[in-house]
Amino acid sequence: MYDPDKIEKKLEEELRRASSAEEIEKIRVKYFGKKGLITLGLKSLKELPLEERKRVGAKLNAIKKQYEQEILRKKEEIKAKSLNKRWDYTSPGRFTQRGYLHPLSYIEYRIREIFSSLGFKFVDGPYIETDYYNFEALNIPPHHPAREMHDTFYIEGRRDILLRTHTSPVQIRTMEKMKPPVRVGHIGRVFRVDPFDASHAPAFTQFEGLYVDKGVSFKDLKGTIMHFIKELFGKDIAVKFLPSYFPFTEPSAEVYLRWKGEWMEILGCGMVHPKVLKNVGIDPEIYSGFAFGMGIERIAMIKYGIKDIRLFSENNLKFLKQFPG
Ligand code: PHE
Repeated sequence: MYDPDKIEKKLEEELRRASSAEEIEKIRVKYFGKKGLITLGLKSLKELPLEERKRVGAKLNAIKKQYEQEILRKKEEIKAKSLNKRWDYTSPGRFTQRGYLHPLSYIEYRIREIFSSLGFKFVDGPYIETDYYNFEALNIPPHHPAREMHDTFYIEGRRDILLRTHTSPVQIRTMEKMKPPVRVGHIGRVFRVDPFDASHAPAFTQFEGLYVDKGVSFKDLKGTIMHFIKELFGKDIAVKFLPSYFPFTEPSAEVYLRWKGEWMEILGCGMVHPKVLKNVGIDPEIYSGFAFGMGIERIAMIKYGIKDIRLFSENNLKFLKQFPG
């Protein structure tokens, strides 16, 4: 016997148990499809006696109305649930990626770490300098090639203001303000009229160090540089100091390290020239000091075997992701 109440009970039960959109669709077809139980029931109403027809007809139509809506609602509910599963805003950030330090930032960080532990304080300095700080106070003579237009970026129409060509002017600015003992480091951009090719850049980064006190000697310079190189490149590295010339240091040296079978120059250094000390009002008869300067792109290029300086400024993630930190 066709019993709409029994059918409704079964329908309700099946719907309550259904947990996927596919199951619900099956139920819809089973009851409300072309050959569905409710559909067929409605079609065969005419075979019933009038009274029965009225009662069963009303019941089946009520079921149809209620459950077709219920089926839609359930479908929506399941869709929402599965969306919430995919976008669980409370779960840990598994879509985020760890950040990387730029290789230059990493070298800078290591330099600050190594020299801070030796008691060096890091100071700032301007990128736009005067001729006095960049050249004159550093005993760089008027005929020195660094002063030429083709080596230095001057501010238009002026020969006394320029983009600094090295970080050494920070030596002067520091010693003007600070009395010995002076033990400072500075890292910043410098600018030279150079082509932008694999080994040159019109702007690069230098690290400058300065130590002035009573009785500072060349062996302090050597010990400090050796310590730094071994910290950065490893204990077994071979290092050599060769005589060199800078107008603001006397004696001067350039330092090489042996890396992958080759001697690579990595920095310039020397004992602060007595004239430079006099220029900032420090008595060279009482005090002495050493200074050094290096390009940190070059340090990174040697350490990581980077062949082209332009990679540092190209923001190529494939390149940048290869470094520690
Ligand atoms: N300023 C020099 C340069 O740019 C490096 C240097 C710094 C040399 C300090 C000696 C002492 O080449």
